[in-house]
Amino acid sequence: EKGGYATFMEKEIYEQPHAVRDTLLGRTDVEGRLVLDDMSITADQLRDVDRITIVACGTAAYAGMVAKYAIEHWTRIPVEVSLAHEFRYSDPIATERTLIVSISQSGETMDTLMAVKHARELGAMTLSICNTHGSTIPRESDAVLYTHAGPEIAVASTKAFLAQITACYILGLYLAQLRGGTFADDAQSVMKELHEVPSKLEDLLGRMDRVKEIARFMADTRSVLFLGRNVGFPVALEGALKLKELAYIHAEGFAAGELKHGPIALIEAGQPVFIVVPGPGTPHELHKKVVSNIQEIRARGARTIVVAEDGDEDVVPFADEVIRVPATSPLLAPLLTVVPLQVFALHLSSAKGLDVDQPRNLAKSVTVE
Ligand code: F6R
Repeated sequence: EKGGYATFMEKEIYEQPHAVRDTLLGRTDVEGRLVLDDMSITADQLRDVDRITIVACGTAAYAGMVAKYAIEHWTRIPVEVSLAHEFRYSDPIATERTLIVSISQSGETMDTLMAVKHARELGAMTLSICNTHGSTIPRESDAVLYTHAGPEIAVASTKAFLAQITACYILGLYLAQLRGGTFADDAQSVMKELHEVPSKLEDLLGRMDRVKEIARFMADTRSVLFLGRNVGFPVALEGALKLKELAYIHAEGFAAGELKHGPIALIEAGQPVFIVVPGPGTPHELHKKVVSNIQEIRARGARTIVVAEDGDEDVVPFADEVIRVPATSPLLAPLLTVVPLQVFALHLSSAKGLDVDQPRNLAKSVTVE
């Protein structure tokens, strides 16, 4: 049932092109417009949405963080991401024009379920992005957008994460389409690029040998840092979470811009740091800014493992290792850049002889608060 792979997690990592492709399937009509057939909130209600709050936990919350950058850019609707357990026990602002989007692979996470119930009490519209048909959270929500990642067996989430990000993109592009005009035109061209991601993922998964080697060499490492900016920031957080969960190594993810506000004090000779580099085409010169971050930490002795687009030569002088990913438009990059971080955590865990599919102290679905 592991289809020739040593672990479920590895199998699920290699299923990611399918997870994205199947989640995209049937979402565009003949004219290339987005269609959502499993949506019971009306288009008029969605056109009126003036605020979106995403509620989720763990990896699903990082998918929400990626979504915030994308949906705000495509629609100009303010998006907030709230950890579900924090949302539930705070005094959140929600009206009948607020769309509360929950993200959950299992559909059974109690913290997320409680947040959804709370949102309904507040009179907000609730939409569930979920991977498990008929589970509790979709049943408790006004509308559902199912991810089609297939069952995820390994405790650590991988293909569900990519499918969650994809579903958030679909939602954002749908909202942009409803806004019409240039919003809708832009949405169409992004959708086209999104459809190219699965084959780029296949290409990427075929070049993971060096990442596996790096992981094996690092079996004795005690601490790893991850840096990213913009959509690369939640990718850095996810890379760190995977390493904590699977390899029991102390790991932290930072927004690269925060470095000089504190974390740079952690850099000492030999400290491994992964840097998720935005593509050279990213607005606001973010590429250049991250390259100078790499330079700064390298000058302080960090061992820099750089995740960069094909053809990005600017990183080379400051990188101890360069992990290449296919180029895509900046907001879609997380679907690619997170993959080497997943593969790294998996192989570091197995190099340490740990149980990749069932890490200690963790359960696949957390059904208590
Ligand atoms: C990380 C992981 C957890 C889950 C979180 C939410 O690898 O698996 O952080 O993402 O517990 O679970 P779901 O998505 O089922 O609500």
